[in-house]
Amino acid sequence: MAPRFKAPRGTHDAISPDVSRWQHLERTFAELVRLYGYREVRTPLFEETDLFVRSSGETSEVVTKQMYTFTDKGDRSMTLKPEGTAPVVRAYLEHSLGQQGHVTRLWYLTPIYRYERPQKGRYRESHQVGLELIGSGSPAADAEVIEITVRFYERLGITDVRALLNCIGRAETRKRFGEAVLSHVAGWLKDQDSAGQERARKNPLRLLDSKDDEIKEAVVGAPSILDHLEDSSREHFEAVQELLADANVDFSVRPEIVRGLDYYTDTVFEVQSEGLGAQNALCGGGRYDDLVKGIGGPDTPAVGVAMGVERALIVMEDQRVQVPQVRTQAFLVAATDGAKDAVAKLARDMRAAGISVMTDLEERSLRNQMKQADRSLAPHAVILGDEELEAGTVTLRDLQEGTQKQVSQEELIAILVKQG
Ligand code: HAM
Repeated sequence: MAPRFKAPRGTHDAISPDVSRWQHLERTFAELVRLYGYREVRTPLFEETDLFVRSSGETSEVVTKQMYTFTDKGDRSMTLKPEGTAPVVRAYLEHSLGQQGHVTRLWYLTPIYRYERPQKGRYRESHQVGLELIGSGSPAADAEVIEITVRFYERLGITDVRALLNCIGRAETRKRFGEAVLSHVAGWLKDQDSAGQERARKNPLRLLDSKDDEIKEAVVGAPSILDHLEDSSREHFEAVQELLADANVDFSVRPEIVRGLDYYTDTVFEVQSEGLGAQNALCGGGRYDDLVKGIGGPDTPAVGVAMGVERALIVMEDQRVQVPQVRTQAFLVAATDGAKDAVAKLARDMRAAGISVMTDLEERSLRNQMKQADRSLAPHAVILGDEELEAGTVTLRDLQEGTQKQVSQEELIAILVKQG
């Protein structure tokens, strides 16, 4: 019978053995960022809608088209978080984490919600691991975040990782540059309907990284933002590149990278992967020096990145990256009724020694218990019957090889502890 309910379109369940990859990715990230002094922060699943409108930008696609917004019973407009940065900055301000001019380093793992047309690598519920480094305007802060990003993918075993960088300058620069882009595409623009024209005028930089073939053609030969930067932005960008070269981080400068959220200033970057097809960004990040002030805090520079968990998992699968599997080590089998209590005690002793074991709960026959053991995917069955009880031993069966041997309970525990 077909199930009555399915996971909503654009969402996924993570089930064993896939979940092993998730756990491996999460552990790898937490361990890596610990080495750089980042602390974890967990923020609510929903926030006041205005927080995202003010940070991501009123004209951004995320805000105009993709937010899961609802009115709660108190008549307040709330939104499931479409990204992690604004909530982290909100928490940073609410808990005064940046007092005394400290640099604050935070990391997170969060689901995000965007009403998108689902396809490979693009979902309505997806997950990000991310970093926010708040309180430093130094190029060393940008370099640290970019270096960690690249090291993360290397540690996951993903090959050919290269950071693609750009500098989009300050708001004023972007305004002037946006006009230059619009005049370059004037011929194309006049043939668009009024909604298309308005979209282009509100956010002309997005034309540069559009995936639409017609727009791609219209922007060929468009001016580069790198020729419009103020000296301070140019010097900052050059310093970031020098630091990355010193740290042996592979990168290229790509003036077409502009990012979809409005809060960026100066450095922006992505890591892309061919294996992802159209949704080729593994991660995205950059500097956002106006955001903290924009949501009511003091003028505070900051830089961060978020990496799509599902996209990293797709690339790991494509590249056949092996990860440790989470599995139960043994299934305990009571071969006779008289052995049931002894099996229960053995299970307790083994768990106390840190060995993961399952037992039969349904009073099944020996044959059915052995079937259960096979299905459990545990590598071993441990069989205890009257004979073993008398001899003070157990039968340790290797379920893959089909071989078995008699060992004492102490030996059994020593063997399985060693195999971990
Ligand atoms: P973003 O570029 O919108 O940036 O998202 C970062 C990454 O999240 C993307 O590169 C992608 O891997 C993943 N992602 C985003 N949307 C989806 C989706 N619908 N399905 C699957 N994966 C997705 C941000 O969110 C910023 N908060 C990054 C940041 C942090 N900037 C500064 N600090």
